[in-house]
Amino acid sequence: MNTLSLYEQIQDELEAVEEKLSVIGRQSSVAEPSLLMELLGHVLEAPGKRTRPAITILASKLHPHDHDLPLIMAAAVELLHIATLIHDDTVDNSAVRRGKATVSNKWGENVAILLGDYVFATSATLVCDTNNVRVIRRFSETIMELSSGELSEISSAFQWDVTREAYWQRIYDKTASLFSTAAESGAVLSGAPESLVQSLKSYGYNLGMAFQIVDDILDFQGTEEEIGKPVGNDLLQGTITLPSILLMERYPDDNPIKSFFENVEADGNLKRAVEMIQNSDIIPQSYAVAADLCHKATEALETLPESSYKRSLADLAAYVMERRY
Ligand code: IPE
Ligand code: IPE
Ligand code: MG
Ligand code: MG
Repeated sequence: MNTLSLYEQIQDELEAVEEKLSVIGRQSSVAEPSLLMELLGHVLEAPGKRTRPAITILASKLHPHDHDLPLIMAAAVELLHIATLIHDDTVDNSAVRRGKATVSNKWGENVAILLGDYVFATSATLVCDTNNVRVIRRFSETIMELSSGELSEISSAFQWDVTREAYWQRIYDKTASLFSTAAESGAVLSGAPESLVQSLKSYGYNLGMAFQIVDDILDFQGTEEEIGKPVGNDLLQGTITLPSILLMERYPDDNPIKSFFENVEADGNLKRAVEMIQNSDIIPQSYAVAADLCHKATEALETLPESSYKRSLADLAAYVMERRY
């Protein structure tokens, strides 16, 4: 299954979202328009999977509604994601994103911070256009959660004793929070009853948690060509994720992660940690945790009336387990 077939039935809506994004790139008229336009063109035209706006659109389709508001929100959700990525790549010192040079790499960190702020604020203006205070509030809380997740990643860097609970909270904050908001806001803006909103919110939460766990697995499992960054990059940055937690739990005393973090034979121990994770059942065990979350996401849809949109949401959960990038 590829994302294209999954998105077929909402192709028109996704095109409308692309149009909203490209209008933003054309309309800006502030102090230094040429640099800003160039930057916006760079980040808005890069091909992302558009998973989050697809969730907002699909979530809005389960209840008859006014079509405009969820489309505005879908564009806002993708813009918020793009802003987060601009800042994340600055923090992570990443060179490439969506097959292109990152803003921080090409224009420097100062420009990346300011452009990230600009894109955050642009997404907020779209959310205001929905005129829905509940959605505006949830959107603001999501930005707080995204920032606190990124901050907690920094403050726990190179700490080997990160607990599962702390990891769980961090991946909620940095990823599942926005997935859950994407689903919840689509449902709210379609005027769906509260029970339907809660089901879709739970779907988004579980899917987002699984999505980040799979991302964390791919960091160990993929090849550099596939994931577009060095294998074991998270550990290299001092970030403990589920596969590392499982390795630490298995070998609490003599563990290459601990030695690497303590800068004892750093290169060798990093390599050893990555190989131990790759050559054990830690990868399948991590996938089992993600699969359980995808199952919960699909379960959250059970009470919803049958429709092709509901099936697409379930397909999206299956796709998250199969994705390689
Ligand atoms: C990347 O998100 C950041 C994570 C939450 C893992 P995506 O994998 O959805 O990135 P794009 O939007 O397709 O570029
Ligand atoms: C996910 O963080 C990005 C955010 C949601 C902020 P990562 O740092 O793990 O994502 P990649 O690996 O850069 O895509
Ligand atoms: Mg990153
Ligand atoms: Mg990061």
